[in-house]
Amino acid sequence: MQTNFLIIGSGISGLNFALHAAKKGKVLLVTKKKIIDSNTNFAQGGIAAVLSRTDNAKELINDTLKAGSFHNKKSAVKFMVHNSTAAVHRLIDLGVEFEKENGKLKLTREGGHGKRRIAYVGDYTGKEIERILVKRVKEHPNITILENTFALKLITKGKTCYGCQVITKKVENIFADQTILATGEIGQLFLHTTNAKISTGDGIAMAIEAGCKVKDLEFIQFHPTAFKKNIFPKFLISEAVRGEGAKLLNSKGERFIDELLPRDKVARAIYKEGPVFLDISHKSAKELKKRFPRIYETLEKHGYKMEKDLIPVTPAVHYLCGGIVTDLKGRTNIKNLFAFGEVACTGVHGANRLASNSLLEALVFSNQIAKELRKQKTPKLKINKTKLSTKKISKKEIQKLMWHYAGITRDPKLVKEEAIPKLTRILNEIKGSNKDLQEAKNMAIVGLEILKAILKRKKSLGCHFLKKL
Ligand code: SIN
Repeated sequence: MQTNFLIIGSGISGLNFALHAAKKGKVLLVTKKKIIDSNTNFAQGGIAAVLSRTDNAKELINDTLKAGSFHNKKSAVKFMVHNSTAAVHRLIDLGVEFEKENGKLKLTREGGHGKRRIAYVGDYTGKEIERILVKRVKEHPNITILENTFALKLITKGKTCYGCQVITKKVENIFADQTILATGEIGQLFLHTTNAKISTGDGIAMAIEAGCKVKDLEFIQFHPTAFKKNIFPKFLISEAVRGEGAKLLNSKGERFIDELLPRDKVARAIYKEGPVFLDISHKSAKELKKRFPRIYETLEKHGYKMEKDLIPVTPAVHYLCGGIVTDLKGRTNIKNLFAFGEVACTGVHGANRLASNSLLEALVFSNQIAKELRKQKTPKLKINKTKLSTKKISKKEIQKLMWHYAGITRDPKLVKEEAIPKLTRILNEIKGSNKDLQEAKNMAIVGLEILKAILKRKKSLGCHFLKKL
């Protein structure tokens, strides 16, 4: 197969980039499950931006830097925030109907934000954005979608990318002028995560194997309030619930933290305090059903009424602040290879992402290169054939290991002496190639890089917290 733009991943950044690229050439968008199976679909809270007269760029920049423990790349933060209003308006122009009041956008608040500045659609903002973008992508004559197509490895020669080898029913080579990694998250490396089942770190693993620079992988963000039930993945109870006044109570019924501090601090406090409950009983059932329909329905299914019950919550892996190093236009250090969204590290999140900055980052950065996109002449390379194995493998051992050694608190001695040797052994034992084996390999490759990054950072910072021994 041959195309101008090969996009791997069907979340907000992949779909948005596809719409831009389709104006310049043929786009092939591949996704390992169905097109709607992305983490964007899981995003509840909303999209942060400068959207009201009482707000300004300086304040959002400062909140982003403060949440990120000032480890952020300041120029990238400024760039994102200054492009935030236009990014939200692009979504509105594409057809996303954010909540409104008296003709103006209704804004909500989440942890770390000094004010209400998050545009939202109920508690299913990501799902609505995904629905509209998928619709636009499907309508476009220049975009072809290949579902159930697993990206196996990037086709590179020297420091240039020429496409990707994929598994459909067999192994196929897709040659492309430009290849875009928009593969999202890594949450499934851990036992407890809010991320979709697809989040096995495939994009980062392929990039590492191809020689891309990665950064800040030690900054794994835990969402403070996943629903404490044996559900896989964990069900998220949006930070917007706290933004609308929910309190966190310990087992004595006492508050123990400011609920709207940045996520790293709230997650750690809950972890230390546990068991912890969310209390939003000051709101009526009618208000809650309207504002948080999916959360209300899910909790009710499990026997909890938000208007009267205390909801048990626990931190769970939610977001990787680091990733493949990119510039403001999504370019990696490999020619013709781009990365957008969670797989990328633009530097905006620093050591801890500010709530609702993820959809914003994905959108702003995937908007930028659009004007410069060009078709090119890509040579077809001769690639060795990969034979598919029929073996299956359980990923539980990796998930348990990462949860244990790379969780909310880390002990560098154990990471060095136990976690790295164990994970190296697991990786070395994975032989052969198929989708299942490759996912496990990807998890182990990324897991090892995370563990090495943990060892390199000698002091606690943001989401990276060393055990006090
Ligand atoms: C949430 O709704 O709490 C998640 C939003 C985000 O990850 O920023």
